[in-house]
Amino acid sequence: MLAAGEALERLVRDVADFPEPGIVFKDITPLLADHVAFRTIVTALADAGRDADGRPVVDKVVGMEARGFILAAPVALALGVGFVPVRKAGKLPGETHAVAYALEYGEAVLEVHRDAIGVGERVLVIDDVLATGGTARATADLVAACGATVAAMAFLMELSFLPGRAAVGDVPMTTLAVV
Ligand code: PRP
Repeated sequence: MLAAGEALERLVRDVADFPEPGIVFKDITPLLADHVAFRTIVTALADAGRDADGRPVVDKVVGMEARGFILAAPVALALGVGFVPVRKAGKLPGETHAVAYALEYGEAVLEVHRDAIGVGERVLVIDDVLATGGTARATADLVAACGATVAAMAFLMELSFLPGRAAVGDVPMTTLAVV
């Protein structure tokens, strides 16, 4: 069985100067195209939502647009719980909570449907990259606005040269690789 760290090292491609000069983009598409590697990282991410005996301990899995969707949806199925999309402004048709946030490059607003996560539910937040932590922080604020709790967060990669972990605060966090 391919280890998650090995899959990431082999199959995540660095793309220089994308989407702007000076940014090194972490392209996960080669990893997604390899079903064995994809399954390995989904299994590893889902472990963040299980207890020591392997039982699911969350009620929902939240993924952030867009790459977070690709990972969070199969993680939700692996855990046997629902998936909730956190989307960029103006994409969700129902009543939403909204939070403004700063990206590594640019600024944006994230939204979640108000009725997507129940009061008191425990949530696993999944995304591909933790960079500045702005996206993850905003997502945690959206979960809190629903009256729910972030039980854990899990990312494929954490950028070592950015303070993402500190920005998110005191939440159990798993990253499969520090890059
Ligand atoms: C990227 C990445 C994370 C976020 C991390 O998404 O997929 O969601 O940035 O950055 P942060 O920790 O500095 O907030 P992006 O906003 O580029 O959206 P995309 O997945 O739609 O390309």
